[in-house]
Amino acid sequence: MQDKKFSYGMIGLGTMGCNLVLNMSDHGYSIAGYDKNTKQTDNLNEQAAGKNIKAFNEISAFVEALTVPRIIMLLVPAGSIVDAVVAELKTLISAEDIIVDCGNSHFIDTQKRIDQLAKEHIHFVGLGVSGGETGARFGPSIMPGGDVKAFEKLAPMLNAIAAKVNGQPCTAYMGSGAAGHYVKMVHNGIEYAIMQMIAETYHLLKIHGGLNNEELHNVFAEWNKGRLQSFLIEITAAIFLQKDEDNVGLLVDKIKDTAQQKGTGAWMSQDAMATGSPIPSIDAAVSARILSSMRTERADAAEIYDIEKEQNSAINKQDFITLLEDALYAAFVITYAQGLAMLQDSSDFYKYDTDITTVASIWRGGCIIRAAMLEDIMETYKTQPDIKNILNGKKISTAISTSQKSLRIVVQVAAKHGIPLPSLSATLNYFDSYRSKWLPANLIQAQRDFFGAHTYERIDKEGIFHTEWNAVIQ
Ligand code: 6PG
Repeated sequence: MQDKKFSYGMIGLGTMGCNLVLNMSDHGYSIAGYDKNTKQTDNLNEQAAGKNIKAFNEISAFVEALTVPRIIMLLVPAGSIVDAVVAELKTLISAEDIIVDCGNSHFIDTQKRIDQLAKEHIHFVGLGVSGGETGARFGPSIMPGGDVKAFEKLAPMLNAIAAKVNGQPCTAYMGSGAAGHYVKMVHNGIEYAIMQMIAETYHLLKIHGGLNNEELHNVFAEWNKGRLQSFLIEITAAIFLQKDEDNVGLLVDKIKDTAQQKGTGAWMSQDAMATGSPIPSIDAAVSARILSSMRTERADAAEIYDIEKEQNSAINKQDFITLLEDALYAAFVITYAQGLAMLQDSSDFYKYDTDITTVASIWRGGCIIRAAMLEDIMETYKTQPDIKNILNGKKISTAISTSQKSLRIVVQVAAKHGIPLPSLSATLNYFDSYRSKWLPANLIQAQRDFFGAHTYERIDKEGIFHTEWNAVIQ
């Protein structure tokens, strides 16, 4: 009797890979898994009872167990491991097979892999998955790109396993080439900024407002019922209730104030600089994580610059909370605006042909940056399809015209009391620059021409000009 064949393969059976396999199985798909680590394969095989799943430790047996053309998904750490797995697979698979990289790979690496494998008629799909472990198990947001024919083969399965919003799956084709991983990178950059701005708000509420963890929980839980409703606000509320294992005190107070990062936020900043997109809220969030890691240096500097960060006893807590809710709303929208505007420009630059309305739509559920406000953002792109930046959208501009005032006050209060708000203040500065009819860049042009004859343009006549500037004689 011929051995049973499986329609999908999954390489990498860590929590994300294992959960995606179980999710696919729930929707009627048969999956063979492969991992070198026997703990991971044993774990999946234990959960496979009564399901169309089998985990292998032998890669050739795994490949052999797949129906042809094969669809092999990878959930392994980004970087050289992906190349190593692909190199091993290449000796075992054949033309027309599809490799789907579901990790957080850099879009440039993905493009290289697409081009290299295309020479052997193997389709390589870069696919972003967001939603963490729970998302992978019960419905993530999925961002596939690349070869359309390969995508079409995957689409029914992706639609089945993705999160749903009003019955609509949170997955769609993101565009050609490495578009899937590019969109995921932008998602993560926005994630960094939103997390940072929530943390800055916590800093203000805790130090300036004097709120304890229970009050902080109540504030975030309340905010999650309104226009800030989002996954990140929701988990923040929960964090303030989590007791330490030893039951003494709350866990949040025992965690070191140094944030780690795997790099996707920094990749977005690097590409923004390379392609010319302003995303200061995200840049500031990346720098803020780096600054947080300089803990010893910060402690030394704190000894030198003993600027008071005292609680304001005269503060009306409720007014302060209301002000912060309004400021955070403006800051979140202005951050999505930067990320989506960058995505639109990059889609032209890299010729991805990404549909921004679709991106906003599939981020409404399953992913880490899912938020109620994405509904308005999606509607803005739908009703004003030629819009370059959602800040110019009708409904959004009305809301931001009001809420920007609160963001302004919050940044002032923090500056006065020496509380750092890197992302919130960068967001306000982006907004103020973006809405400025005139900026002092004429002076920069004059300076460049003065010291380097770099030329300048004029407002009163067409052309490129250079002046022999008069040096000041001392
Ligand atoms: C997601 C997340 C996830 C990412 C974490 C950690 O969408 O599910 O973006 O892909 O791994 O956010 O990223 P950092 O380690 O860079 O914070």
